[in-house]
Amino acid sequence: MDSIVVTGGTPLSGDIPIAGAKNACLTLMPATLLTDAPLTLTNAPRLSDIATMTTLLRSLGTEITSMQEGRVLTLSSHALDNHVADYDIVRKMRASILVLGPMLARDGHATVSLPGGCAIGARPVDLHLTALEALGAKLELRDGYVHATAPGGLRGGKVTFPLVSVGATENVLMAATLAKGTTVIENAAREPEIVDLARCLRRMGARIDGEATGTITVEGVDRLDGATHPVVADRIELGTYMLAPAICGGEVTCLGGDIGLIGAFCEKLDAAGIFVEQTDRGVHVARRNGRVRAMDVETRPFPGFPTDLQAQIMALLCTADGTSTLHETIFENRFMHAPELARMGARIEVHGGTATVRGVERLKGAPVMATDLRASVSLILAGLAAEGETLVNRVYHLDRGYEHVEQKLGAVGARIERVSGT
Ligand code: EPZ
Repeated sequence: MDSIVVTGGTPLSGDIPIAGAKNACLTLMPATLLTDAPLTLTNAPRLSDIATMTTLLRSLGTEITSMQEGRVLTLSSHALDNHVADYDIVRKMRASILVLGPMLARDGHATVSLPGGCAIGARPVDLHLTALEALGAKLELRDGYVHATAPGGLRGGKVTFPLVSVGATENVLMAATLAKGTTVIENAAREPEIVDLARCLRRMGARIDGEATGTITVEGVDRLDGATHPVVADRIELGTYMLAPAICGGEVTCLGGDIGLIGAFCEKLDAAGIFVEQTDRGVHVARRNGRVRAMDVETRPFPGFPTDLQAQIMALLCTADGTSTLHETIFENRFMHAPELARMGARIEVHGGTATVRGVERLKGAPVMATDLRASVSLILAGLAAEGETLVNRVYHLDRGYEHVEQKLGAVGARIERVSGT
């Protein structure tokens, strides 16, 4: 397993390119199952999660060709010769559940392994299932799999989510495009990745309204065509790299970044005293002199502060001037970065869903353990500011969501290298 070594204390300067969004691409790819025509995705990120989704779709019979070193994917699902998403693949990546809705909508049957939990929480899929049942699906849970059928095809229905779910919104939105009649989805997630999915489905011929409002209306059609669609920029990668100069000083432009996708996060950077400006090249970020200001953060569904940036801003607040609180409202166990940051000298107390961070002057480098994708990168960020060397182990977590993090940070002056493990 590879590790990454960061030596802190070097201010950054230069440009960091922002890739296409992992969490958009992971829902755009299963959309191929809705049509027998080719779907081409451009600006695709090169990540291990995308490779896993590629493996899953190929196992169902989708042909996938990759061009421009993986940046352009063409997916063709002429005829699916397998309707079972196997546990061995699904257990590696929860987003695999997103093949359920489209496969069921297109062929009237689908069997998908239940994904099981992950490091940050139990992460059930009950909302996915009840939403599909509202469209007429018959579901049976057996041997760890969801066996779904839709005799006579799905029909439009009303879905009212009791809590906001990104994945469940994506699953039922895709299914509804081929359902007979009208579907109304209330309390739908409003994340930019949902908006991007709706744009792609509309290019394929779907009839969708309201994707950014929380109430989505879909008029089912008989079939969808192929399309070519650019994957939206990754707002979580953007926020992550904006924190690099914020944490260790300097000025960086995140190329292709759009602060409109992370307004609540940018408000917190402004409150911390970090300079943020949208330019025609991307998002320019600078850390002026003096310590960052402490603050309170509460994660919320979009347009609130994204849970996927909570670990990263905690790394910034570890050296803030004062005491900060972070309240994680989306997942039940998303503070695993806290004890690792504490190994670097951070003073963090976790009680239930709230972490209290008392800022220290400076962190000290130490060997630390990555536990999940966003916790991993928060340790890298902390290492950029820490005194001495930080060794982050198990960086396979990182590779799920960040392309060559050591190259992107190294290019703007960070002292960082990947060490191949045994
Ligand atoms: C998506 O996960 C993202 N993953 C997550 O990003 C992100 O943290 C999350 O949305 C919230 O924004 C992808 O898009 C691939 P949810 P998802 O359904 O869809 C509960 C990353 O780091 N829930 O919005 O799985 C659930 O347990 C990843 O890139 C149910 O109870 O998240 C959670 O508490 C991590 N029943 C809350 O809802 C369900 O059926 C929000 O989950 C579904 C979800």
